[in-house]
Amino acid sequence: MKIAVVGTGYVGLVTGTCLAETGNQVICVDINQNKVKMMQEGKLPIYEPGLELLFHRNINQGRLHFTSNLAEAIAEAQIIFLALPTPPGGDGSADLSYVLGAAKDIAGLITDYKVIVTKSTVPVGTADKITAVLEQHTKVEYAVVSNPEFLREGVAVEDFMKPDRIVIGTLDERARKLMGELYAPYVRQGNPIIYMDQRSSELTKYAANSFLATKISFMNEIANLCELVGADVDMVRRGIGSDERIGRRFLFSGIGYGGSCFPKDVQALAKSAAEAEYDFKVLNAVMEVNDIQRKILVQKVRKYYGGDLKGKKFAIWGLAFKPETDDIREAPALYIIDELLKEGATVAAFDPEAMPNVKGVIGDKITYTKEQYEALEGADALLVLTEWSVFRTPDFDKLESLLKAKVVFDGRNLYDIQKMIDCGFYYNSIGRKV
Ligand code: UGA
Repeated sequence: MKIAVVGTGYVGLVTGTCLAETGNQVICVDINQNKVKMMQEGKLPIYEPGLELLFHRNINQGRLHFTSNLAEAIAEAQIIFLALPTPPGGDGSADLSYVLGAAKDIAGLITDYKVIVTKSTVPVGTADKITAVLEQHTKVEYAVVSNPEFLREGVAVEDFMKPDRIVIGTLDERARKLMGELYAPYVRQGNPIIYMDQRSSELTKYAANSFLATKISFMNEIANLCELVGADVDMVRRGIGSDERIGRRFLFSGIGYGGSCFPKDVQALAKSAAEAEYDFKVLNAVMEVNDIQRKILVQKVRKYYGGDLKGKKFAIWGLAFKPETDDIREAPALYIIDELLKEGATVAAFDPEAMPNVKGVIGDKITYTKEQYEALEGADALLVLTEWSVFRTPDFDKLESLLKAKVVFDGRNLYDIQKMIDCGFYYNSIGRKV
């Protein structure tokens, strides 16, 4: 099939590359000419495990192309994916100006039937808004489809190539058939393609992310309660997770969820609900708990030092909002660093991928180290903020010799408490029994 992908951000690039992998002819378009040039030269602008291999393979085999010319991109395409940013507007609702702007441009260019697909997370009713724009600006036939993306950063390629399900929101039979054919190679293992109307599909995406965020906030509250009543959240998690109705995944307490999706999507769903005059109480609590959760680790640090962090030096392991990504959007680590600096502390940090991005935001307010142990030199304590694999089994002798004091605050519950105590560490984690 011939496919155009408008927008080469994270979702667009993964979508375009993975669609080329099953033999489709894909052309990705972006208004950022430097970025397009970079990709034309074979340089991948984002870090995502496994993507580079597919990116190069499909470019080399002539199936993946890049352009900054929208007309060229969509001329032959049967399906046009919109993977454009929908940043939160001032009032918390998603800003649709990029998506609707692209719809208008496309309307002015198309000459035959096209399937126009929203891939980015868009509020309920967006497909109708796109349809209204198209109706106004073209007489050519088209179908607007909502096809939300459920991929996770860090495992995006795997998620795209082997999705749990594909949701296709449209009542247009021709578009359903084309979309079904496009996705057939990805659901070989029997996972379903679920067809529905556009609004249900748009809401599915928000409901999925908000439900997952709810799981996390719920477990974070259980962890906080564990600390007060002398229970251990690891035990409780295992105890409840073995009930299939609850499930083992996404029950890890920590310093709160971050990233470009959960915070934005929970907020946007609460806002849409409010607009529909529905008070979605659970969502408001999910957001409040998440806000509090990133503060909890700082409060613990503050308490340990009797409220005075002035002149203290902290080593930080992990800056990205989660492992296997360089993404620092809404990363709890940034909030925690900001608080420590405000109170007069200094920070030396290490992250396997995210340091250049952090440097771009906060510059030299903190020190960045070449490897993880260098950050520990002369530090009063280590704070573990992202659960990268390299932090899971560190050399504890090195920790002991490099840190000024044997103090570890662990925001991701990585270490065995008994081992830490036996090694003589002061060890504080989230919701676990000491
Ligand atoms: C999330 C969803 O998982 C994807 O299905 C969805 O497609 C994507 O948003 C999106 O809307 O684009 P992502 O933001 O990449 O994916 O990251 P997750 O792996 O879901 O993690 C989100 C946050 O939750 C991270 O900050 C992570 O540390 C936190 N988390 C996750 C926990 O605190 N506890 C857990 O048990 C799991």
